[in-house]
Amino acid sequence: MGVVVVAAGSGQRLGADVPKAFVDVGGRPMLGHALATAAALPGLRSLVVVAPAGMGDPAGAGWRGVEPPPALRVVEGAADRSGSVAAGLAAVDDGCDVVLVHDAARCLTPLAVFERVVAAVRAGADGVVPGLAVVDTVKTVDAGGFVTGTPDRAGLRAVQTPQGFPLALLRAAHASGQVATDDAALVERTGHRVLVVEGDALAFKVTTPEDLERATRLVAGRDH
Ligand code: CTP
Ligand code: MG
Repeated sequence: MGVVVVAAGSGQRLGADVPKAFVDVGGRPMLGHALATAAALPGLRSLVVVAPAGMGDPAGAGWRGVEPPPALRVVEGAADRSGSVAAGLAAVDDGCDVVLVHDAARCLTPLAVFERVVAAVRAGADGVVPGLAVVDTVKTVDAGGFVTGTPDRAGLRAVQTPQGFPLALLRAAHASGQVATDDAALVERTGHRVLVVEGDALAFKVTTPEDLERATRLVAGRDH
């Protein structure tokens, strides 16, 4: 099995002075937290980090606190997330049957979520995403902000990463060069069925300064 950790975003909404994945959370960059969990996955054969241009060197300052796991490959990212994933997929060991794609920004995702996703892919799903029931009522709106609909909340899930797929299937879905905010969307478009398994509140994405504070508090609490 292979894991691609995408870490090439700049983190505009966080607004730190380094790319988001290299921002410290409790003494270790977000990327370090994500890599430590991915490296603990049983059966891991290939681990690929997609890094921002000029930050691909695990010996460099941006990696401070990150112990590069064996079999780590680092490749340079692209302008959008889909392009970064495609670059990572190209570097995954061809012998992997399953690949997981994970956001470095979901740095506190528990290992159990990774394991649930892998198990469901191995059980035969074309695509597997962790997701949580939506607690807010969600509205669709038009360009003017007027509500156009209220989808039934019971049928909605907020999805997270890691998302898992047979490696060949995800490579084929990305071969179109299309762009989407997650990998499952590309697989859905190719007509495959994607399964949602239980996610975890700890798999939240660090997006804003408030998220970073929350992650930092959680790591501090974990150590005591
Ligand atoms: N990502 C990436 N390459 C990009 C854009 C995003 O590898 N061109 C990665 C990010 O590093 C992150 C994940 O995709 O781990 C989720 O993206 P997001 O949270 O949107 O991160 P950023 O794009 O860095 O943040 P922002 O949108 O606020 O600029
Ligand atoms: Mg982004």
